[in-house]
Amino acid sequence: MTAQSSRDAAWRRIESLGREESAGAIRPLFAADPGRAARMTAAFDDLRIDFSKTAISPEIHAALLALADAADLDGFRRRFFAGEAVNVTEARAAMHMALRAPPGTPMRAGGEDAAALVQAELARMRGFVDAVHAGTLRGATGQPFRAVLNIGIGGSDLGPLMATEALTMADGPRLEPRFLSNVDGTAFLRETRGLDPATTLVLVASKSFTTQETAANAAAVRAWIADALGEDAVGAHVAALSTNLAATAAFGIAPERVFGFRDWVGGRFSLWSPVGLVIALAAGWDAFAALHAGGHAMDVHFRDTDFAANLPVLLALAGIWHVNGRGLPVHGVLPYDDRLRRFPAFLQQLEMESNGKSVRRGGAPVAWQTCPVVFGEPGTNAQHSFMQMIHQGPMTVPMDIILARTAQGGRDAAHAMLAANAIAQAEALLGGKTAAEAEAEMLAAGMDPARAAALAPHRAFSGDRPSIFITMDRLDAFGLGRLIALYEHKVAVQGHLWDVNSFDQWGVELGKVLAGGVLKEMQGEAAGAHDASTQALISWFRTGGA
Ligand code: F6P
Repeated sequence: MTAQSSRDAAWRRIESLGREESAGAIRPLFAADPGRAARMTAAFDDLRIDFSKTAISPEIHAALLALADAADLDGFRRRFFAGEAVNVTEARAAMHMALRAPPGTPMRAGGEDAAALVQAELARMRGFVDAVHAGTLRGATGQPFRAVLNIGIGGSDLGPLMATEALTMADGPRLEPRFLSNVDGTAFLRETRGLDPATTLVLVASKSFTTQETAANAAAVRAWIADALGEDAVGAHVAALSTNLAATAAFGIAPERVFGFRDWVGGRFSLWSPVGLVIALAAGWDAFAALHAGGHAMDVHFRDTDFAANLPVLLALAGIWHVNGRGLPVHGVLPYDDRLRRFPAFLQQLEMESNGKSVRRGGAPVAWQTCPVVFGEPGTNAQHSFMQMIHQGPMTVPMDIILARTAQGGRDAAHAMLAANAIAQAEALLGGKTAAEAEAEMLAAGMDPARAAALAPHRAFSGDRPSIFITMDRLDAFGLGRLIALYEHKVAVQGHLWDVNSFDQWGVELGKVLAGGVLKEMQGEAAGAHDASTQALISWFRTGGA
């Protein structure tokens, strides 16, 4: 068999297992195997993933691992860590792992000693953060900085915001963090409200330094400082985080205020890079370093562990089963932890911008589904909004449930309630309740029999709805770093198996380009040819008329 034909055969096997009548049944798997929960739980130290509440039978598990072998996942993993140009359409490595590797780790990318570059920049960042915290680096009026305003969008916002929130929620931040991402006057008002320009440090985070929204917001914030403190004050209040040093210089930011990285760091993988400076400023350098240590621990686990015990690989394979075996187009994430309230939004970019592709690496169209729609919200809040549909809607939506064992903020009773709800959701999704059971309960509670019979179908749950339960001892900075890297590597594995390039994002380009033309027309500077609907919208905006 050629490599291609054994890969095709592995896909066909998964698809055919997915067509079997029992493909969605989970409860019979528990009945058949009393050791299923333990056997289907994989662990890396205290990080455990329980896959038992999915319909992955031993046969399906074997078929998924066979796909990983047939697709030479091992070869991809080697090339990925070797800094080869796995981002084929941009001819670049995807070497975010170098950002969190300890000093002295041999890591090369783009023909350079990636690890050495990273360590040099980290040392500069640390000096900057220490000076801000010590109050030796101050604003133009001589006052210490009290707030940090991060201007950036996409990967230059979502990861830093998610991690900053997670790491400062319990104890409060060292500097008050604000995040301005959307190009929206209201967002500007909200994010600058209550801030004093004299005590605000501004970070312009943009890998490319050409992003329209970030440029517009940076200009607005610059004017906000200049209006309050004078044009000469701006330099003391602004720093830039970018790969584009020419553009940061053109913006007027002094080189010592620019923290750089290379193009082998993708935007959605960049929170470990200088783009994460806001995390260190708000949560402290130790937290930023522990985040890195957690990410690196997951890198080592992913790089060195057999697929059958490899958490990112197993998480990726479970996703492949749901998307390609079962044909389920949506995937939910429920962190039972308010510190992770922006984690689903971060994952949306990570997964959907990485793997929402329909062209194979070689340029041919894919003949299978790729990335599902990813959505989520912290539990228990989610239980009071969309979980109705997940329990009783006709569509099956697999859910990742994330829970740390230790309470935050010392409120043990609240944490026990949170944990009980997380565990009960997974139990309810699996076990369901028959109409007969629902009816019997209502009768036992004294309900009129006719009404109980009428209500029974409404109060029944099909069960057999898949969930993956992810637990850890505590969600500290190390635990968070490990969790983020777990999903990063899940995405890389899935991209390899779907044969798409996880590291480019051409799909965002067309809208950007067209927006430039539409804006010119709205300003009366040009006239373009559009479909009738688009033309009507442009006219409506310009004139307010029909
Ligand atoms: O438009 C998409 C995108 O390129 C993302 O991939 C990226 O994270 C975001 O825009 C911001 O880009 P930059 O950091 O270059 O401003």
